[in-house]
Parts: sequence; C-alpha cells; structure tokens
Amino acid sequence: MSIIIAVDGHSSCGKSTLAKALAKHLHYVYGDSGAMYRAVTLYFLNNLVNYHDVQAVTEALGNIKIRFKRIEGQNTTFLNDENVEREIRTMRISEHVSPVSTIPVVRRAMVEQQQHMGKKRGIVMDGRDISTVVFPDAELKIYLTAEADVRTSRRHLELASKGIDADWAEIKHNLLERDRIDSTRFDSPLRQAPDAVVIDNTFLSEEEQFELALNYARERGA
Ligand code: DC
Repeated sequence: MSIIIAVDGHSSCGKSTLAKALAKHLHYVYGDSGAMYRAVTLYFLNNLVNYHDVQAVTEALGNIKIRFKRIEGQNTTFLNDENVEREIRTMRISEHVSPVSTIPVVRRAMVEQQQHMGKKRGIVMDGRDISTVVFPDAELKIYLTAEADVRTSRRHLELASKGIDADWAEIKHNLLERDRIDSTRFDSPLRQAPDAVVIDNTFLSEEEQFELALNYARERGA
C-alpha cells in the first residue's frame, strides 16, 4: 500500500535528508515544500514585488510556476523553467523566506499544489505544516527535532558542500529567527500534530534516524 508520510520540524533538523532517504527506499515521490516557499521568495526579490502588498503578491503568484525535476538523481527546483536549486538555498533567500511564508495567499497557493502532488499518495513531504494542514490524514506524521548548535553545524556543512560560504553565527541566528517566525505566525504555524511521532536526532546518525522512521512507516502500511 502507498501511504503519505509527513515530516515537520524546525529549520535544519534533517527533515529533507530523512524524507529523501525514505522516498528513495520506498520508491515514493519526495515533496520539498520549503523549496516552494523559497522559489516564491526568489521571484518576489528578483521582480521587486513588495510582499507587504497583498494585491501585488496575488498578481505575482499568477506568474509563478514551480516544478521539480530529477537531475543526476537529485530533486531539482525550477522556477518558471529556470533551474533555481542553488540560488534558493543562499542566505539571501533564507533571510526573507519566513516572512514571505507568513502570507496567507502564498500559503493557500502552495498548499493547493502540495495536496495535488499527494493525490495518489506514495509521497514523503517535509515542511512545517504538512501533518497539520497539507495532509492531516497522513498515515505517518513525524515531528523531527535536534539541538540548535547541532542544526547550525549541519547547515554550515551542507552550505559548504554546495560551495556556499556562510558564517556559523549568522546561520545560527537565521535558524532561530526562522523557528520563531515559523512557530508564532497566525496562519498554519509549525506545531507538533497530536498524532505525530517525535524523533530527536541530536545524538542519532542518519542511518539510525532512517531505520527508526522506516520502522514506523512499515507499521503504518508502507
Ligand atoms: O524547509 P526549509 O528550511 O527549506 O523552509 C524554508 C522556509 O519556508 C521556512 O523557514 C518556513 C517556510 N515553510 C513553511 O512555511 N511551510 C512549509 N511547509 C515549508 C517551509
């Protein structure tokens, strides 16, 4: 049976690493909801859309097409047919993405696309509101967490591996600030769903975390 696996949690706690590994193992689609908010943010910045102006935002959303393609085995984000995978991960986007993702019209547009991606089930999607808003009926909901310093070091390494040089303290500040905005916003804040399983991976290896999550998935019918 194909199920839906929703992975939520704070910034940089390994959600995408886990979600990608589960999707690969189970031959499911991987849905990177954060990449969608990042692509919208990139569009707003590049096209000088004032994201405090609801009308301007609504108009701009009509011109935004986000697609995912697999390139050399990697999930790759396209914004209006342009490969933006690298650009959406930069600090410039990380600094604006949380405020942009508080905007209700932006959320409605993204949630609609995300739900469409999950129509046939067989998907692992990671984000902040996947188990509470996008797929409240997901068979498996995982709430992932890890200590802030560990998360910062992981993000630092991840950026470095992509050739992006960023300051450790700046990364930590950005993570905590995004956590604050993402958890306190009015529209679909980051929350642990009551029926979610919690995995704290501060002291877990990627393999240990994967095995734990895969067991839960198998128990739920994957
Ligand atoms: O997962 P990420 O760090 O790439 O996500 C970037 C931002 O997008 C995050 O700070 C908040 C927003 N986001 C969201 O509001 N809802 C989601 N489902 C996924 C991400």
